[in-house]
Amino acid sequence: MRACRIGVPLWVVAAIVATGCSSSPGVRRSVAHNTSTTSNAPGAAGLRLLAERRGLLLGTAVNDDALQREVDYRDTLATQFSMVEPENVMKWDAIHPAPDRFDFTAGDRLVAFAREHDMAVRGHTLVWKNANPEWLERGRFTRAQAITLLRDHIYEVVGHYRGEIAQWDVVNEALDDAGHYADNPWLRAIGPDYVPMAFRFAHDADPHAELYYNDYDIGYPGRKAAAILALVTALKHGGTPIDGIGMQFHLIPPAVDLRRIAEQMRTFADLGLSYAITEFDVPLKLPATGSEQQMQADLAGGVLRTCLAAPNCRTFNLWGFTDRHSWVPQHLAGYGAATPMDMHLRPKPAWQALRSELTA
Ligand code: XIL
Repeated sequence: MRACRIGVPLWVVAAIVATGCSSSPGVRRSVAHNTSTTSNAPGAAGLRLLAERRGLLLGTAVNDDALQREVDYRDTLATQFSMVEPENVMKWDAIHPAPDRFDFTAGDRLVAFAREHDMAVRGHTLVWKNANPEWLERGRFTRAQAITLLRDHIYEVVGHYRGEIAQWDVVNEALDDAGHYADNPWLRAIGPDYVPMAFRFAHDADPHAELYYNDYDIGYPGRKAAAILALVTALKHGGTPIDGIGMQFHLIPPAVDLRRIAEQMRTFADLGLSYAITEFDVPLKLPATGSEQQMQADLAGGVLRTCLAAPNCRTFNLWGFTDRHSWVPQHLAGYGAATPMDMHLRPKPAWQALRSELTA
């Protein structure tokens, strides 16, 4: 049986081809949105309450358009989740569109929503090879200029949200699939030291935020997982203020060995690091059959169960909770139905699986 994990399919095409999964832009389907209050609300005790009883932060990436326009989306968000994470609006191109201009409008909207509904916020992300504005990507900076730029960005953004953001993805996907440093403006101008520097700047700007290194393909054995382990071990031993590892978990069934995931969680626990599941979704080949939906449910339940049993896994975030707003159809041709709720916010088997793990 084929197992394939996607991280950022369009720009890791080689990895996807190597594992036999296709990748090309798909057409986002448009659907009629239900803008009434949640008629399909999945049960009286929302997942949020169940998760709180288990000491788990249960979160999701949030689509900014839906947050502004869709009442049922907002209602479900507030009743079913205890953490929100911006899908795109805190990335460099959105929040720092010009060298001398920051735009906090959309990020502030999400943080205000979280405050209003007593939810935690996970910030995403301060350093990434993608979603950088042209001026940064094409700019030519000396090492000193790049360090100043990185520092000023992190001070400005983390400082703006100081006290409001519980966890930050400080560095996202620094390594490529082979475990080498991936090209980005920071590697080019500063070298690998940009990683500990970014953590240091973020800690200076908000000493109480938990700081994470976030990536895909690090929950299982392999070259990348080994390289990440070496990297975070060195960071820890060097005194870098890193609190945890974020594991993205974009999984294509039948995928993973839960024992190996549990083993990795323990390895990071031994280093004194939290382990957060940060971007859980399970893309299915379309049209998704009932048995594929069941496989998706088994994966969701299995990964959540593994997290709940681990000593250091207290955050479980979905990369979108409804198929109405999911990055998958746009980024992985022929795939979709990746989230636990359908287009009309009706719970799918994966939702029931999450619920039964939380009540187990
Ligand atoms: C994705 C968003 O979901 C898309 O809307 C956007 O077009 C590209 O980025 N890993 C990450 C996320 O860390 O930031 C990516 O989000 C998905 C893969």
